[in-house]
Formats: sequence, structure tokens, C-alpha cells
Amino acid sequence: QRVVFSGIKPTGRLTLGNHLGALRRFADVQYTGRCVFSVVDLHALTVDHRPARLRALTRETATLYLAAGLDPDACVLFRQSDVPLHAELSFLLECTAYVGELNRMIQYKEKGRGRPGTRVSLLTYPVLMAADILAYRASEVPVGDDQRQHLELARDLAVRFNRAYGTVFVVPEMAPAQVAARVMNLQDPRRKMSKDDPDDAPGTIRLLDPPDVVRRKVMRAVTDSGTRVRYDLEGSPGVGNLIEILGGCVGEPDLESLADRYTSYGSLKRDVADAVIALLEPLQQRYADLADDPGTVEAILRKGAERAAELAAPTITAAKQAIGLAA
Ligand code: TYM
Repeated sequence: QRVVFSGIKPTGRLTLGNHLGALRRFADVQYTGRCVFSVVDLHALTVDHRPARLRALTRETATLYLAAGLDPDACVLFRQSDVPLHAELSFLLECTAYVGELNRMIQYKEKGRGRPGTRVSLLTYPVLMAADILAYRASEVPVGDDQRQHLELARDLAVRFNRAYGTVFVVPEMAPAQVAARVMNLQDPRRKMSKDDPDDAPGTIRLLDPPDVVRRKVMRAVTDSGTRVRYDLEGSPGVGNLIEILGGCVGEPDLESLADRYTSYGSLKRDVADAVIALLEPLQQRYADLADDPGTVEAILRKGAERAAELAAPTITAAKQAIGLAA
């Protein structure tokens, strides 16, 4: 059976990168197998955070899941902290993971290693992520390109645990997006577009940005000094990024031929702005309706948490048994 798991951590307002790399693709697979999607709020505690903002972002992210078209009758939607099994399994996997391999994680090196005030949980973060995935015996994990190394660790831990204690976990496959798996910042196309950018960052498109804001951000995107429109992420990263975004929005995987249709940066930018606005419009409409009704969103999350706990319980029981706990 196809089992899909993925999550988004509520550390900032979601961006176009989150949508093209992940969220939109959750909706695409939801009727094809068992699908479990979580707002992974425990992960948001690994960096400096404010409690009230975290709670608001968790609600906003869950509402965006629904606004993006996730159907709570077809998939399981829940808040990670409502299902304590994640933290429990994470500990068992910490006893399978090595300090050395966690120390080498790129995100840890960039965000915390060697800095005062780095939380222990930032180091162990990828183990909790592995627990999220392995708890459901997920076969497939739709994520953006930046999660590749974390996925690799989840696979390594599954294999290592299974070898040491007997087969408990399914080894998951990463399911990257065909195009726009790594959307870059419009002002600095060598850096990924991140929801943790400052709220008013001009190179970061948020899913809830009104159309005029989206248009302004796209029209001001940095390109380069050439004039030919071509798809070349190395030589022309700003233009390449716009073509990726356009391809992602309109569903055109052949980016070279997409680039060939343009003779000027101006017309490319206009089409990118139109395509992003058109993609976001129905989502924003649904978000506006749902935001008036937080009780419904909360009820969906609670029901989802019950179902998620039911699904994960047999795995954790088997893992405890295998590792030498329980009777
Ligand atoms: P997070 O919250 O940073 O991002 C959520 C999802 O969005 C993707 N993404 C992008 N895709 C394309 N271009 C971008 N610029 C871009 N920025 C973000 C991410 O790859 C991700 O798919 N560790 C995860 C959360 C997590 C998780 C999990 C994911 C925790 N447990 C289990 C999958 C399965 C993270 O920080 O994603």
C-alpha cells in the first residue's frame, strides 16, 4: 500500500516555495493511498520562538492545508504535538542515531553548530523527523529539495534499526517535485526562499500575499545583465528561478522550451506574476472562508490526531518490543 507522510513546521508564514515544493503536492496525492499530513509544531521549538506566535502560525498553517485543497475525509491532518507517540519514537531512534551523523547535517551546521544558545533539539531535529515518517511506515515523502539529507538520515535509521532488532520500519522514498523543488529568493537567487525570512522580505512571496504585493515582488525580482531569456540556473540564477516558478505554476516541466517562448525579461515577469496570482487566488479565497471558522479547523485537527495515534500505535509497539522494552 502507498503510504504518504509529510509535514510543515510552523516557524513562519508559508511561502510559494512551501506550496510548489510540498503543500500543493499533498493535495495531488491525497486520493491515491493512505495520506498523513502534519503541522509539525514540535519542530518549531528547536529554534528561538514565541509561544503566542507559534500557536497562531500553527493555526494558520493548518488552515492553509485545508485552503490548499486537502480533504479531511481523504487524508489525516493533525498537529504533531497532539500525538505523543512522535516524541516517544524519536527517543528510540535517538538510541539508533550517532552524534557524528547529526553533527554533519547541513541545516544544523548552518543554523546552530558552534553557536551559543543552540538548543539540543536542533541537533536531534532530524531524528524527530525520522520518527514522524517511520511511525506511519510511510513509503513516500513529498518534500522540497532542501530536505534531501534529512530523508537520507530517516532511511539510514530505518535500515539500521531493522538490521539490529528485526524489521519494524518501512524504508521511505523521497518524492521531490519535478519542477520548482527549490524555489529561490527573488532578491537573492542563490539563497532559497524561506518562510523564516523577515516578514517584509521583498524577495519572499507568501501564500497570503495579496495580488498587488505578489506582482510587485515578481516585477522587482533580480535578473541579470544579459538580455536573452534562457533556463540556466548556474549562469543566470534569477531568470532560471522565474522560469522554475512559472513552470511550477502552469504545470510545464520542459523549462528550456518554456524559456524559448520569451524574448524579454519584462514579459516573462508579467507572465510569472499572472501565473502565481492565478495559482494563489482560489487558495486565498478558501482561506478567507475558513479563517472565519477556527472551530471547524480545530475539530478537524483533533479528529486527525486520534486517527494518527491509531495508525502509529502498532509501529511503536513493535519498535518497543523489538528493542527490548515492554513485556
Ligand atoms: P519546512 O517547514 O522548512 O518546509 C515545508 C516543506 O516545504 C518545502 N520547501 C520548499 N520547497 C521548494 N522551494 C523552497 N524554497 C522551499 N522551502 C521549503 C520543504 O522542503 C518541505 O517539504 N523538516 C521539515 C519538516 C518536517 C517534515 C517531517 C517533512 C518535519 N518532519 C516529516 C516531511 C516529513 C521542514 O523543516 O520543512
